[in-house]
Amino acid sequence: MSIPVIVDCDPGHDDVFALWFAAGHPSLELLAVTTVGGNVPIEHTSRNARVALTVAGVEGVPVAAGATGPLSRTLATAEWIHGENGLGGPELPEPSEPLDERGATELIAETLLAASEPVAIIATGPITNVAILLRERPELADRIREIVWMGGSTERGNVTPYAEFNAWVDPEALAIVVASGIRFTMVGLNVTHHALVTPAVRERLAAVDNRTARFGDELLEFFCRTNDEVFGMPDGPLHDPVAVAVLADPGSVELVHTRLDVELAGTETAGATSVDFDGMLKREPNAWVAVGLDVDRFWAAVEASVSRLA
Ligand code: BDR
Ligand code: CA
Repeated sequence: MSIPVIVDCDPGHDDVFALWFAAGHPSLELLAVTTVGGNVPIEHTSRNARVALTVAGVEGVPVAAGATGPLSRTLATAEWIHGENGLGGPELPEPSEPLDERGATELIAETLLAASEPVAIIATGPITNVAILLRERPELADRIREIVWMGGSTERGNVTPYAEFNAWVDPEALAIVVASGIRFTMVGLNVTHHALVTPAVRERLAAVDNRTARFGDELLEFFCRTNDEVFGMPDGPLHDPVAVAVLADPGSVELVHTRLDVELAGTETAGATSVDFDGMLKREPNAWVAVGLDVDRFWAAVEASVSRLA
């Protein structure tokens, strides 16, 4: 039995690998993809998501565009990592399918209503679309099996000292989603910084040698270079696929049920995720937080997914 999933993303190099991981994994059934302004503006993320599916030969999965920016802040993008078009490196083919005419929240709502069982949402960008859905269609909450989100950190950030990019772009959206009562899993930098694209990982993925792997290798070349330039991390951390691993291969990611809060007001710490492992705040646990990754098992699963694609 596979888990039906919707991927909400802002491609972005690592988002593309998250899409491929989900599309190629037999434990998951990719029903729909929605996009958000994040790494780059929505025009690019919406095209890039379709490019990712086209390269991989994935057909019949609708892609709809969602929020152009966060609920109440100005969009800040990350061209310094992902390039001007969000997928620096390879030449991008024309997407084989047009953008779905429905907006992201409409596509998610209709997908949830049409499914015969609750659907999981994997979010790998600012979580604006999901917050809008929950605000506009709260009656659909029980049709969502769970939400797994790449973002946040139990430690330090990557865009300010204490905030991770996806959390920092739209912390208000994150607060709405965490408060919804739907099972929520945060996959933060504390684990994704172990999903490093080492030379050995690159070789291993490139050796798959299908169209997806070859395109992916050009993406990784660019991504590792910018991560080296910006963070001094030549083995770039491939964040977003780790969120997919939580559902595709649950044994590969260790989770802890704990208290998660997001900083909305801090002058220096907006978007910081506060994870109260020690129960100091005496608040009820409200989230699952990833604390460990079986790195070899993770890459083996990513590689296997890529090998099942075109
Ligand atoms: C997250 O921010 C984006 O740049 C990546 O795609 C990932 O989702 C990492 O902080
Ligand atoms: Ca992303």
